[in-house]
Amino acid sequence: MYDFDKLINRSGTYSLKWDVPDGELPMWVADMDLQTAPEIIAALRRRIDHGIYGYNIVPDEWYDSYISWWQKRHHVTLRRDSLMFCTGVIPAVSSIVRKLTTPNENVLMLTPVYNTFFNSIANNGCRAVQCDMIYDGNKYSIDFARLDKMLADPQTSFMILCNPHNPTGNIWDKETLEKIGTLCKKHDVIIISDEIHCDLCDPGLEYTPFVSLPEELSDISITCLAPTKTFNLAGIQTAAIYVLNKTLYHKVWRGINTDEVAEPNVLAVPAAIAAFNEGEKWLDELRSYIYENKRLVIRYLGENIPEMSVAESHATYLLWLDCTRLTQNTDKLADHIRKEGKLFLTAGSHYGKSGSGFLRMNIAAPRESVHEGLRRLGRAVNAAGEDVLC
Ligand SMILES: Cc1ncc(COP(=O)(O)O)c(C=O)c1O
Repeated sequence: MYDFDKLINRSGTYSLKWDVPDGELPMWVADMDLQTAPEIIAALRRRIDHGIYGYNIVPDEWYDSYISWWQKRHHVTLRRDSLMFCTGVIPAVSSIVRKLTTPNENVLMLTPVYNTFFNSIANNGCRAVQCDMIYDGNKYSIDFARLDKMLADPQTSFMILCNPHNPTGNIWDKETLEKIGTLCKKHDVIIISDEIHCDLCDPGLEYTPFVSLPEELSDISITCLAPTKTFNLAGIQTAAIYVLNKTLYHKVWRGINTDEVAEPNVLAVPAAIAAFNEGEKWLDELRSYIYENKRLVIRYLGENIPEMSVAESHATYLLWLDCTRLTQNTDKLADHIRKEGKLFLTAGSHYGKSGSGFLRMNIAAPRESVHEGLRRLGRAVNAAGEDVLC
C-alpha cells in the first residue's frame, strides 16, 4: 500500500504550481502534490549518488521500457525504429509545427483543449483553429460534420488530438478515433496524437492508442508519449515520439534534433525506465485514489454548490467544472475564488472560446487538500455577488 494521504510541503522547491502567495491553495497546473513511486525515487537516488552528471545516451533499456509498457498495459507492440526520445511533449509538438509547416497553415484542435497547444501553434507561425465539441450539459462529443468541414480547408495541415482529452477527460473509443482518422486521411491532414494522459483513466478503463488503428490511419499519425503525467515527473522532462511512417519519422527526427530537444538530461532516462518497469503497482493504487477524489468532488458539489457540476470525465486528474448556471464567463469568478477563497483554479477561457463557462480543477493531491479546496470553493462561490457572476 502506498501512502497518498501524506501531505508534503512543496514550498521552497521552486515549484511552478506553488509559486503563489502564502496561504493560497493551488489546484491549477497539471502536476501532482503526491510523491512519485518509491521505486522511481530509488532509481533517481542511485543516479544522483553517482555524482558524475555528464552527457547521456538513449540506451536500449529506454526503448525496451516503452515497448513492454505499451504491450502490457495497452496491448500494442511498438516498433523500436519508430520511437525517439524528446525532452517533452510540448517541445515535440512545437518542433513538429515549426519544422513541418509553412507560415500561416492551420492546426486544428477539438476545443476546449489544453491551453499550451495554442502557444505551440501561434509561436511557430501557424493559426490555431478551434473545432468546438458538442456539450450536452453533461458530457462532450465531437461534431463530425463541423470537423469534416474544417479539415477540408486546404490550409489545414495538422490536427492535434488529445487522447485522452485534457480538460474534459474524454477517452476516445476506437470507433471515434477511426472516424477522426478517416476524415484526416480524406483531407490530407496529419494527426498529432498527444497521449500523455493515457495511463490516468478511471480504474478498469483503458484508452485506445492511435497507432492501434488500421495501418492506413496509423500511417498519418505522430504520437507523443510520456511517463511524466502518470508518475508525476513533469520537471524531469522526459518523453517520446512515435512515428510509423518512415518519411514522416525522418522529418520529425531531423526537426527535434535541429531544435535541440532530442537529448536526455541525466535523470530523464533512468526516470522513464524505472517508471515503466517498476511503477505499475503504484499506478494502479494512484488511479483508485484519484477516482475517489473525483467522487468526493462530485458529491460535494451536489450537496453544497448545486449550480456547479463536473462534466462527465473518465480520464486525467483534471476536473472540468461546469459553471454555466452561475455565469457564462468564469474569468471574474476564477479571480474572485483566488482572491477571496485563496484557491487557485484555472478559468475555462484559457482552453478556447467554448471553455469560458467552466473552471479547471486539479485533484491530484492528498484527500485532505481536496477537502480543503472544496471548502474554499464553496465559501467563495456562495459569497460571490452579481458583479462576479454577471
Ligand atoms: C495534454 C498535455 N500535453 C502536454 C503537456 C505537457 O507536456 P510536457 O511537460 O511533456 O511538455 C500537458 C501538461 O499539462 C498536457 O496536459
